[in-house]
Amino acid sequence: MPGLRGLAADMLEKVGLSAAAFGLYQRLTALRAPAAPGLPPAYLRVLTAGTAHPLVYLGVGGNVSLEIIALARRHGATLEAGQRVLDFGCGCGRIAAPLGASVPAALSGCDVNPELIAWCEANIPGDFRVTQPAPPLPYDDGAFTLVYALSVFTHLHEANARAWLAELARVTRPGGLAILSLFDEDIPAAAAFRAELLDRGFLIRREGPEGSNLLCAYISRAGFTARAAPAWRLLQFIPATEGASGQTLAVLQRA
Ligand SMILES: C[S@@+](CC[C@H](N)C(=O)[O-])C[C@H]1O[C@@H](n2cnc3c(N)ncnc32)[C@H](O)[C@@H]1O
Repeated sequence: MPGLRGLAADMLEKVGLSAAAFGLYQRLTALRAPAAPGLPPAYLRVLTAGTAHPLVYLGVGGNVSLEIIALARRHGATLEAGQRVLDFGCGCGRIAAPLGASVPAALSGCDVNPELIAWCEANIPGDFRVTQPAPPLPYDDGAFTLVYALSVFTHLHEANARAWLAELARVTRPGGLAILSLFDEDIPAAAAFRAELLDRGFLIRREGPEGSNLLCAYISRAGFTARAAPAWRLLQFIPATEGASGQTLAVLQRA
């Protein structure tokens, strides 16, 4: 994401801060946050959004949920009652809460962090589950009409990204959709290593624990399309500059 958060992350990268220090940075960021009644606690907002700022949290969550709904409908997923939607890596429901309130479809969310899922279970209508860092997910084959993941594949190593693309395909019905966010070659920060990214298809720019915001993974559009095939067919990319999340959105259809 651009702005102060990006600057702070770049500074952390330069001094080579460890995962423990990054954890401390996240705790301190949460301590400085303003009160926000009705929203998840500040530390959970930092884990999910990289910032605890209430208006940023609400604004990005609300706008991205509207983007996802519009993209899904554009590509034929009506999100009516009887259909199911999965938020993979839902955090504390930044997107799931407004999305679930806006469509009749049944909402599921999963995350590896039990603290985040506990908040979702207590505060957001839907089926929320703690899942494991590696597949499988606790859902039937073809259970979902739409799966989406915002700011999750941006924090996975390549082998796990491949494994999760395959597992999300398993739980999506044929013809169903996935909307997944990426750091690709058009993210402004990628300008410095664009040629290398295009050449290799996948790059880790900052190491960290799998799935944490410290780990920063870039994938080229061609690299992503190739790794998602043949289970997924690419429908469109929405450039980061045109969306609310600061990340590129890939819209895929289950073969
Ligand atoms: C940057 S946060 C984004 C949260 C949420 N998608 C949002 O945009 O508000 C990334 C989330 O992915 C979760 N996560 C990372 N790896 C995961 C995995 N393998 N399975 C499920 N959740 C995962 C993390 O625990 C974290 O809550």
